Amino acid sequence: MRFRFGKNWKNYLKSVTENKIDVALNSLSKTIGLSDFTGKTFLDIGSGSGLMSLAALRLGAKVHSFDYDMDSVEATQFVKTTFTNEDKNWHIEQGSILDNDYLNKLGKFNIVYSWGVLHHTGNMWKAIENSINLVEDNGMLFIALYNDQGFFSKFWKAVKYLFNLNFVTRFLIKLLFLPYFYLFQILFDTVYGFKPFKTIFNAQNRGMNFYHDVIDWIGGYPFEVASPGKIFNYFKERGFILINMTTTTSVGCNEFIFQKIS
Ligand SMILES: C[S@@+](CC[C@H](N)C(=O)[O-])C[C@H]1O[C@@H](n2cnc3c(N)ncnc32)[C@H](O)[C@@H]1O
Repeated sequence: MRFRFGKNWKNYLKSVTENKIDVALNSLSKTIGLSDFTGKTFLDIGSGSGLMSLAALRLGAKVHSFDYDMDSVEATQFVKTTFTNEDKNWHIEQGSILDNDYLNKLGKFNIVYSWGVLHHTGNMWKAIENSINLVEDNGMLFIALYNDQGFFSKFWKAVKYLFNLNFVTRFLIKLLFLPYFYLFQILFDTVYGFKPFKTIFNAQNRGMNFYHDVIDWIGGYPFEVASPGKIFNYFKERGFILINMTTTTSVGCNEFIFQKIS
């Protein structure tokens, strides 16, 4: 059973503007700590909407994007066609991070990027191991993985399972959780900034928007989680050093940037 990520991405792309692309570009550049990717190769594993691949391309990288879901591949291709002049430095195809035959043909990359993907493959630890093997010596791996919240993670896994079970359970989950997330966000933004609609009507971090993020969250299945400590130790044992990290104490992803030491 899988959530149709690509369908959600295609829907999201109707709202993409140059402003959202700028937000994506600035967040990528800031988090990686590089304002110019010229001369670097960039692999986007599970490219989804393709927005972050476009950001890397505009920062100067030679980009390779792949995704398991054909609708996501088409979404990424749409972004390439719409926002570039069919740039020769951007290659897009269908592929899986769990498919060793496919990965063996890819080679290695200076920056390997996989935001919110590896925990949705059905085999997160194998996907992490395969991603590591795609990093060039001294290269970087930027991954975002769902935080392990113990009981709450099990709860959300059940919600996501029901979302994907059939159209009746999907309708009920939407009915229950969409108002919950909207009301919570409006309340939060009112209390902390006196701007009730700040988050729901503005581009999110990385250029995403609120509605599609919520659908991705309540529907995203398969679903696995990991604590920051477990990820840190896993990479340390494999010769990587942590160069940047953002963690959450709540639902959502922990972000890590590791560097492979040659
Ligand atoms: C939550 S989306 C994240 C998309 C994008 N990385 C971003 O940051 O917006 C997860 C993506 O991972 C893709 N995916 C799931 N399993 C995959 C696999 N085995 N190999 C490659 N991509 C996969 C999904 O199709 C989906 O497009």
